[in-house]
Amino acid sequence: MLFYFTGTGNSLLAAHRLASSDEKLINMADAVNSGKFSYIVPENENVGFVFPVYFYSVPDIVERLCRRLKLKNQNYVYAVITCGGSIGGSGGLLREMLSKRNIELNNVFELLMPDNAMLFYNIPNGSEVSERLVNAEKNLSGIKNKISAHEIKVIKGRAAAKIGRTAYRLFRSTKKFCVDNSCVGCGLCAKNCPDKAIEMKGGKPHWIKDACTKCTACINRCPSKAIQYGKATVKRNRYVNPILGGK
Ligand SMILES: Cc1cc2nc3c(=O)[nH]c(=O)nc-3n(C[C@H](O)[C@H](O)[C@H](O)COP(=O)(O)O)c2cc1C
Ligand code: SF4
Ligand code: SF4
Repeated sequence: MLFYFTGTGNSLLAAHRLASSDEKLINMADAVNSGKFSYIVPENENVGFVFPVYFYSVPDIVERLCRRLKLKNQNYVYAVITCGGSIGGSGGLLREMLSKRNIELNNVFELLMPDNAMLFYNIPNGSEVSERLVNAEKNLSGIKNKISAHEIKVIKGRAAAKIGRTAYRLFRSTKKFCVDNSCVGCGLCAKNCPDKAIEMKGGKPHWIKDACTKCTACINRCPSKAIQYGKATVKRNRYVNPILGGK
């Protein structure tokens, strides 16, 4: 059983590479939005959590699932956290959240992927992104072997994640999102938002929640590059993992 959360596809790609052919993939956003928090894990099946790090911490949707999750049967439990640089103490924070639900996290793997954090700075594109994707595939096969061997590791470092989580909370406002005239009204931003924070009104997106998970799906995946976050993002690159086919 593999729980995943993604904004721009990196963690979805990792989830697909790690899942066995008959393993169930559960989208954490769908689980939270539909209020499904209880699961029966098939006998001898691993439980995986695959998601991106935000502010060296855990995305809000992942936290909302983990704080209420109930698992019947648990075997080997692992997390693969994707990042643009480092996962910091996010693994320790996840371990703490899960242990409050009587779920023991046995290992956390860091997976370096292309950075999608274009709200803060200009992210790389071109060959740097391609190189990262090639290396990520190699790292994923190593991680898959360790998961198969049920490798166990002591998971530390939640202090840095707690500081990051405070910064993340302050940053979750949707106020700075806006849309320019190049919007073609396709509605993909609203469809792709895992937090249901966008509604189409009069053929244009409107942010209907004061705060969101800040996954960057809307701004990175808009086919017209019509969404901005203040003025700074106009000239910045966008990123979408090829697994999403540019959408
Ligand atoms: C709001 C936000 C915060 C982020 N914070 C971090 C971070 O603290 N450290 C890091 O290495 N990458 C950070 N990133 C980059 C993503 O974790 C990384 O690109 C990830 O692979 C994206 O996964 P996804 O494509 O599945 O959404 C951040 C991205 C966003 C949108
Ligand atoms: S995805 Fe882009 S073009 Fe499509 S409705 Fe949203 S802002 Fe407009
Ligand atoms: S509004 Fe945009 S950044 Fe916020 S959760 Fe939705 S898609 Fe992600």
